[in-house]
Amino acid sequence: MALSYPARIPLAQLPTPLQPLDRITEKYSTPHGGPRIWVKRDDLTESGMSGNKLRKLEFVAGAAREQGCDTLITCGGIQSNHCRTTALVGAKLGMRVQLILRGEHSGAADGNLLLDELAGAAATFYPPRQYFEQLQELFSHWETFYAERGHKSLCIPTGASDGLGIWGYLAGAEELHSDCTSVGFEPEHIICATGSGGTQAGLTLGMHLLGSSSRVTGFAVCDNAEYFKRKVREDIHEWQQMTGAEFSGHDLDISVNADYIGPGYAIADEPVYRAIAEAASLEGLVLDPVYTGKAFYGLLQELHKGSYQDCKNLVFVHTGGQFGLFPHRENFSFLR
Ligand SMILES: Cc1ncc(COP(=O)(O)O)c(C=O)c1O
Repeated sequence: MALSYPARIPLAQLPTPLQPLDRITEKYSTPHGGPRIWVKRDDLTESGMSGNKLRKLEFVAGAAREQGCDTLITCGGIQSNHCRTTALVGAKLGMRVQLILRGEHSGAADGNLLLDELAGAAATFYPPRQYFEQLQELFSHWETFYAERGHKSLCIPTGASDGLGIWGYLAGAEELHSDCTSVGFEPEHIICATGSGGTQAGLTLGMHLLGSSSRVTGFAVCDNAEYFKRKVREDIHEWQQMTGAEFSGHDLDISVNADYIGPGYAIADEPVYRAIAEAASLEGLVLDPVYTGKAFYGLLQELHKGSYQDCKNLVFVHTGGQFGLFPHRENFSFLR
């Protein structure tokens, strides 16, 4: 199916590199073999704006401009990569940014929150209970607040995961497919971290529309497999409604591995921190404990179990998040 992309503001440095992780591959191959591990470096989409969210925000910003919006409102945890990327994108495009943040903030800002401040975004903090119970009301409150002051807002849902944001990884899937084709392989598996579902939704739909046999699996960092299977389907359905695309989503293979969430969202056990240290020391690859480190740890465990031993090539999509590493500095005491 030829895709007719909507308005897009180019912000990311694309294409991002596709690189082999040969030292990890060697270490984790089993006596029966195992795949060559590759990494799609979406942590390199930009510098401060780095990561997967920038691909989605190119289309979100395109829609905001088309609709005459001068303000972006979005939400997330205090260390949200999505909020940080939105804050920096807004700064670059001269748009006001209002962040609805979950959690309490005291003391000096760190990691992503420091970048939100540097970008000049307005941030308001809400206790988790209020945040989860009243998120829609909070969006309406801030939209009205800015409207009363003469501004038009675009509200971006959690992680920009919806029928609009999905375009980011439809384009990302096309890019990855073309990267792999030019190296001369079609990966049997593509792995990404899943937090709000949009990256996985775009990759899954994109690979399906390209007629690729690659299986996309999201390694969940919160909630559960059923939740993400439903969420991915909803995003794809919304995209279909928005575009009028005719295709049957029923035979889509939506694969979620929820075995490595650990104690909960943004909370990790020591093995995850050790996997992060291993990726850095073996490959010079910097992962974060909330998303990519957890997913990568899960991947290493699955490799160890031999789950992918019949596969020749596997691509891990590095979705960024490095700034979220620093607020977890005390969990790396095993290095000293
Ligand atoms: C670094 C990073 N990786 C992966 C994800 C997950 O992507 P998605 O929200 O599209 O599921 C997120 C955000 O949730 C993220 O910030």
